[in-house]
Amino acid sequence: MQLKHYLQFTDFCREEYEYLFERTRWLKGAFKQFQQYWPLADRTLAMIFDKNSTRTRLSFEAGMQQLGGSAIYLSTRDTQLGRGEPVEDASRVISRMVDLVMIRTYRHHVIERFAEHSRVPVINGLTDEFHPCQIMSDIFTYTEFRGNIEGKVVAWIGDANNVCNTWLQAAQVFDFKMHVSTPPGYGINPERIGLSDKVHYEVFENPHDAVSGADLVTTDVWTSMGFEAESEQRRNDFADFCVDVEMMALAKSDALFMHCLPAHRGEEVSADVLDGPQSVVWDEAENRLHTQKALMEYLLLGRVDTNRYKI
Ligand code: CP
Ligand code: NVA
Repeated sequence: MQLKHYLQFTDFCREEYEYLFERTRWLKGAFKQFQQYWPLADRTLAMIFDKNSTRTRLSFEAGMQQLGGSAIYLSTRDTQLGRGEPVEDASRVISRMVDLVMIRTYRHHVIERFAEHSRVPVINGLTDEFHPCQIMSDIFTYTEFRGNIEGKVVAWIGDANNVCNTWLQAAQVFDFKMHVSTPPGYGINPERIGLSDKVHYEVFENPHDAVSGADLVTTDVWTSMGFEAESEQRRNDFADFCVDVEMMALAKSDALFMHCLPAHRGEEVSADVLDGPQSVVWDEAENRLHTQKALMEYLLLGRVDTNRYKI
C-alpha cells in the first residue's frame, strides 16, 4: 500500500473526504450500538505532544482502542526530543516500532521533516499553521446538521490562526466561500496557506459584514498555544471581535455556530452563543473521535469493504 500522510487539509481530495465521511457515519453507528469492530488489532499509534491537548489526545487514544489497537502517549518533556535529538532520527526510530504516528507541535516544518523520514503514516494533530483533523470533523458535523457545504458561506471571526488557515484550505477542496474578518495585523497569509485562487475567500474589515448572510459562523481563541506572551496585547486588539448574539443575528436564521474548543466565554464568543441553540460545539468535539477513526482506518488499511468486517 502506498504510504500516505495527513499533514494539511489539501492532502486529500474531495472524493477521499466523501469516502471518509461515509466510513465515519458507519463507524459512528457501530460505536453508538456498542458493536465491536477491531480492524486495527495489533496496530500501534504513537502520539507525540509538544503542546497541551484534551480532545486530540482523547479522541486518538480512545479511537485507536475502539478499533482494536493501542496508543502510546509521548511528550517532548520526557522523550529525547526534548533534549535535542534530531527530528529525523526520532522519526527513523519511532516509525520502525509503531504503525502510525500523530504529532502536535509548533512549526509545521517539523512535522514535514518527521514525515519525510517516516516509514509509517504521519497525522498532523495541530501545528502553528494547520489543524486538519479539526476541520475534517467540522465539515462532517456541518454535513450532519445541514447537508452539503458546497456553495455555503462560512464566516471566520478573530485570529487568522491554524484553524482559520485550515478552513481556507477546506473551502477550496469543498467549494464553499470563507468570509474572514480579523483585526489589523492578524490577517491571513494566502501564500503560506497555499491558496491557489481568490474565489473561495473574501476579507472583511468589519466582522458584522463578514457574518452577514453566513450559513456557519466560527471562531477560535484570540491567543493560540505558543503565543501566550502576546495575550494582553491581543485582548485589546481583538476586543471588537467577540461573536455575540447581536453578531449571530446578522447571519442566516438557521446558521450554525462552531468552535474547536477550548473556548473562552466572554472573549472570542459570548456564553449565550456558545451555550445557545445555534451552537453545535459538543457534536463537533465528539465527531473528532468518529472522523479520526475513519482516518486511521484509511491510512492503515486503505479503502475497506464494509462487509469484510462484519459487526
Ligand atoms: N480542538 C482541539 O484540538 O482540542 P485540544 O487542544 O483539547 O486537543
Ligand atoms: N488555535 C488554537 C487551537 C487549539 C485547539 C491553538 O493553536 O492553540
